[in-house]
Amino acid sequence: MASIFQPLLSAYLLLLLPLVVAQSSAGGDIGVGSSIEATPDAKQWVSLSGDFAFGFHQLENNNDLFILAIWYYKVPSRTVVWYANGDKPAPTRSKIELTDRGLVLTDPKGQMIRRSEFATGDVSIARMNDTGNFVVYGSSSERLWESFGNPTDTLLPTQVMERGGVLSSRHKERNFSKGRFQFRLLPNGNAVLNTINMESNLSYFAYYFSATSDQANSSNSGFQVRLDQDGSFYVLRGNNQRDSLSAEDDVVPSVDYYHRVTLNFDGVLTVSRYPKNPTGRNGNWSVSTTIPDNICTSRVEKYGSGTCGYNSICTLKSDKRPKCNCPPGYSLSDANDEYGNCRADFVQGCETDGITSRGDLYDLVELQNTDWPTVDYEVISPCTVNDCKAYCLQDCLCIVAMYKKGECFKKTPPLPYGRQDVQMNTIAFVKVRKAEFSQKNPPITPPPYGKRFRNSLTILISVFLGSSVLVNFVLVGVLCLGSSFLYHRKIKRNHCNKNGIQSSLRYFNYNELEEATNGFEEELGRGSFGIVYKGVIKTDSEDPIEIAKLDRVVQDIDREFRTEVNVIAQTHHRNLVKLLGYCDEGEYRMLVYEYLSNGTLASFLFGDLKLSWSQRTQIAMGIARGLCYLHEECSPQIIHCDIKPQNILLDDYYEARISDFGLSKLLGTNQSFTNTAIRGTKGYVAPEWFKTVPVTVKVDVYSFGVLLLEIICCRRNVAMDVGEEEKAILTDWACDCFSEDAIDALVENDAEALSDKVKLERFVMVALWCIQEDISLRPTMKKVLLMLEGIILVPAPPV
Ligand SMILES: *[C@@H]1O[C@H](CO)[C@@H](O)[C@H](O)[C@H]1NC(C)=O
Ligand SMILES: *[C@@H]1O[C@H](CO)[C@@H](O)[C@H](O)[C@H]1NC(C)=O
Repeated sequence: MASIFQPLLSAYLLLLLPLVVAQSSAGGDIGVGSSIEATPDAKQWVSLSGDFAFGFHQLENNNDLFILAIWYYKVPSRTVVWYANGDKPAPTRSKIELTDRGLVLTDPKGQMIRRSEFATGDVSIARMNDTGNFVVYGSSSERLWESFGNPTDTLLPTQVMERGGVLSSRHKERNFSKGRFQFRLLPNGNAVLNTINMESNLSYFAYYFSATSDQANSSNSGFQVRLDQDGSFYVLRGNNQRDSLSAEDDVVPSVDYYHRVTLNFDGVLTVSRYPKNPTGRNGNWSVSTTIPDNICTSRVEKYGSGTCGYNSICTLKSDKRPKCNCPPGYSLSDANDEYGNCRADFVQGCETDGITSRGDLYDLVELQNTDWPTVDYEVISPCTVNDCKAYCLQDCLCIVAMYKKGECFKKTPPLPYGRQDVQMNTIAFVKVRKAEFSQKNPPITPPPYGKRFRNSLTILISVFLGSSVLVNFVLVGVLCLGSSFLYHRKIKRNHCNKNGIQSSLRYFNYNELEEATNGFEEELGRGSFGIVYKGVIKTDSEDPIEIAKLDRVVQDIDREFRTEVNVIAQTHHRNLVKLLGYCDEGEYRMLVYEYLSNGTLASFLFGDLKLSWSQRTQIAMGIARGLCYLHEECSPQIIHCDIKPQNILLDDYYEARISDFGLSKLLGTNQSFTNTAIRGTKGYVAPEWFKTVPVTVKVDVYSFGVLLLEIICCRRNVAMDVGEEEKAILTDWACDCFSEDAIDALVENDAEALSDKVKLERFVMVALWCIQEDISLRPTMKKVLLMLEGIILVPAPPV
């Protein structure tokens, strides 16, 4: 996923503001209308003291690309401490402008690339502060956005990381794409380092943890990670105790040094300093602390590859940073990624050699003090070295044998957590095919849906459960496909307010989608209408898509299908997932959607990785806007009928996008009449589904209310494991908390939400209005939006 701290969020439909002559910043203040153009000699917004600068940083390996960044203005070797568009660098002559609605990044053609996350802010001024914090202020001097609140891979003195906060590494020292490592302060008070799964963005278990969670007395657990002016780096506990993370005898006064904490691209967290007035010609960053002490021999877990890739071996360099090497007979899967996976240069395994592996085909290469500790499938004890070697040679499953103190461990691929360290006292024997029997592993030529393209395309396929007749639908999504790629078919009926955008859907045939999904190989998830698959379609721009294949749909759907697809195609809103094309061939019906790399809101609400309060409130507003559009600006109205966190996707910048809308007719639900078949999901469906009354847009309002409570509280509506019975049903508990004037309890450990009491109260009250049993009491989505935005006052809801 694009990192959670990626601070600038995308927007698709904002009007471009007229160009304003760029102003130079004097003394760190930047006025509305100021802008910078991305050129090699671009000006920058410098802080009053001249310590920090904000502007475009030209990539060293590609001079036509720039990222928005903050760096030390006085340090000669460019040291970036914050950056925005690492995954999508901007081309030369892109422009960053402070508008009255936020920071807007546009490409040379004036197309917006990014907009900062405060969607409807009323910006008065921005400031590059001397602490290194870039702050955008609102009209009453409130801080609308600040870089300190949205860190990337670095913490600066006075910057605080709260529970739920994350630093995310870059891909390489000079490549600012998202990397594999995270430094987080968990809700339980532990500060941890962990790798993530790049596909799902989910975190693996920690390879380092600070042990600052107090199980017996949770109020004494860590609640902030801090870096002080003097360079001390510590976890602050509830009882004000500091658990130092830095080497304490190494603390030096700030007046003389710049200090920073950086999560490096290789997974090592470093505390380093730089003399403000170097005595020699050049100062140097000197590292005072590295965490963990030895990343190569750090904790291992069940999943993931560790610091180096699979089949790789980690050794610690003198600077306590890791070096990754492939074993003999192996080489890098991606020659440019020395920290990535290794693969054997020869064909391995039982398929080639047969069950009775012929030992004489292989040599064993001895590696002292080397081990892959997690993948033993057999242990032979006691055992001699020679027997250990022989056993592995005869076993086609065995690719490495490890001998230690009279025991033999056999290992199969892939080999994670490889390490070499003098303390280990092990001998590893790596099985390498003899040259004369060598059958070269074919070179890797990535297929169109191969790993190289994984992030650029997704396919969504789903299954309709409607009647006995099986009809396949596939939903496929493509983001921003090149126009040559699309059919320019105008659709005559004007269903929705299109904001001036033409609908252009591409028609796909079944074979194309089958190829794109590699035979519907990778399942992304299951929607209410079926299974969603990921895939890649070859386009000039290699953009991402999702495909949904729908099985078992109601009969007589044929006539309706194209009509419905066209209705969906008419929707254009930044908070809706975009339909890019469809397939309607024989019994197959599929829809192609754009791919959203961050997956569903559910994984961020109920998973390990929590979104911040400000991100959550933005997401709630986004969903409200999307629903408002479906209800108010489409004709006939589109009732979603299944609003829940699983149907909200998040884009690279954590902007909410509603999916699965406009499908009710395909599912055989007649919305305007009494329902027998309840559509929707338990826990989110409005009470009227169970009654004989017409279903209206108010069912979505109800579901939104439930969802809003879940977003506020980061928990499921129905949770039997919360301990206290009165908390089991969130909607009931929220009513209780509200009537007892105790809404703080809803967000117990969320310091950010607690400090934003007015908004918290407003959001809870809006949610309670939405879940009113009496349909007429529930507000429209338009009113909900106005209330959430604080434009109209929220009266106390009846509870
Ligand atoms: C700006 O910097 C000053 C010190 O130069 C500091 O006291 C203040 O808290 C900073 N403000 C913000 C919003 O970071
Ligand atoms: C950074 O690395 C990623 C992943 O390997 C790659 O896709 C991207 O193109 C690189 N970026 C630049 C600017 O080279």
